[in-house]
Amino acid sequence: MLRQRPHSVNDTDVTRHNRSPMSLVFPHTFVPWFRAVAPYIHAYRGKTFVVALAGEAIAAGKLNTFVQDLSILHAMGLKLVLVHGFRPQVTEQLAAKGHVSRYARGIRITDPVALDAAQEAAGQLRFEIEAAFSQGLPNTPMANSTVRVVSGNFLTARPVGIVDGVDFMNSGLVRRVDQFAIRRAIESGALVLLSPFGFSPTGEAFNLTMEDVATATAVALQADKLVFMTEIAGIRENQDDPESAIDTEMALADARRLLETLPTPTQPSDTAFYLRYCVKACESGVERSHILPYATDGALLLEVFTHDGVGTMVVDEKLESLREAGSDDVGGILQLIEPFERDGTLVRRERKEIERDIEYYSVVEHDGIIFGCAALYPYPEARTAEMAALTVSPLSQGQGDGERLLKRIEQRARAAGHESLFVLTTRTMHWFIKRGFVPVDPEWLPEARKRKYNWDRRSQVLVKRLISA
Ligand SMILES: CC(C)(COP(=O)(O)OP(=O)(O)OC[C@H]1O[C@@H](n2cnc3c(N)ncnc32)[C@H](O)[C@@H]1OP(=O)(O)O)[C@@H](O)C(=O)NCCC(=O)NCCS
Repeated sequence: MLRQRPHSVNDTDVTRHNRSPMSLVFPHTFVPWFRAVAPYIHAYRGKTFVVALAGEAIAAGKLNTFVQDLSILHAMGLKLVLVHGFRPQVTEQLAAKGHVSRYARGIRITDPVALDAAQEAAGQLRFEIEAAFSQGLPNTPMANSTVRVVSGNFLTARPVGIVDGVDFMNSGLVRRVDQFAIRRAIESGALVLLSPFGFSPTGEAFNLTMEDVATATAVALQADKLVFMTEIAGIRENQDDPESAIDTEMALADARRLLETLPTPTQPSDTAFYLRYCVKACESGVERSHILPYATDGALLLEVFTHDGVGTMVVDEKLESLREAGSDDVGGILQLIEPFERDGTLVRRERKEIERDIEYYSVVEHDGIIFGCAALYPYPEARTAEMAALTVSPLSQGQGDGERLLKRIEQRARAAGHESLFVLTTRTMHWFIKRGFVPVDPEWLPEARKRKYNWDRRSQVLVKRLISA
């Protein structure tokens, strides 16, 4: 006997006629909504996010919905590192052992009992998080989801030590993040889960803070976003008014200024508690850092896929002004480099040479004025490229523009498949050495560049090996 199809043609007709008013409206709201989200989906594919989830969020029963949201981001091609906190869970374990938590400067003092409690809490939480990612019930957002979670000894720690007479024992700080191993794992499609634990080279375990781990990891990976899912709604516009609106976007300079006026935080609810990590991350090359309230359902999705988002985003406003050069920039570049050509720091370049090579340049622009530039000259036959004409205006030197330009040029070189980047300099050797370049003999230069090398100028050649991101 033939199996009956669940719906005959007539069934469908009946269903169509029985549609509720809501389902008639749905296609008209869903399609425009989905299209409105599309630019964000395109923009974030392949980007790296480090997301820190406060232990309080898990204690408040938010884990499952949060994992569902992360899984959606993962399915959209984002590379994810999740760092969990465990303050309330450790406190609970300690209470079960009849001990009280001891804190100084907002950091737990990890005596042997607290270390035990932390290890137990971390083990339990990892188990719960892995279980949450393994769900796949039909008719839930996790149906068909396949997120593989990878954990490991990715963090090296060092002790906090004795500060102002307080011995923090096994409380530690991140010393090093194995960014290559994490990068390999996320590039292979896994989600990396980090607990706030690290080991010293002698194998001793250290209890770290979620904030330190997340920030150090985001910086090491040069992540596109660092997100803290926290117990606070964000940073208030007026610090004296707890009811004032949330500042949705703070320029890094403003966030720095605000931090200077705030007392050292001791509680996660203190304004400076997460903000200082956001500032640190942005200062170290993470483009955007966010403080989001875990209490808002879908806060992560709202922040990523809507224009205004929720919570507070700290952004390095200078990043917005770093871009590739166009023909309109030739005049500005000439004006910028001219004084350095005159005093012999830079080799002279003609206008027509810059016009011809303008696509090799990146510039830093504020309010229509060029404050910095650098160029990338490729030598594909030797799989290397030269960074030339790196210049920052004396008006804005020492604020990191030089470093940002270098990073951009490195990025462009990597994207073009070069294995190394070299520079020729007579006066800035140490600046480059500090940033990973090593001196080599001019004989090292690619043949085509060697022919142009000015032996009288005796420029030092420095090379940096590029590791693919
Ligand atoms: C080199 C240059 C691009 C750096 O720009 P910048 O915006 O000041 O760079 P950053 O802000 O990233 O770095 C500032 C740091 O570099 C140091 N620095 C600046 N010039 C330096 C030099 N010639 N040698 C060594 N260190 C130098 C600063 O003292 C500062 O040190 P700090 O981090 O300890 O405070 C800028 O000084 C410049 O334009 N110089 C003239 C042109 C030049 O020499 N270009 C290189 C040609 S190959």
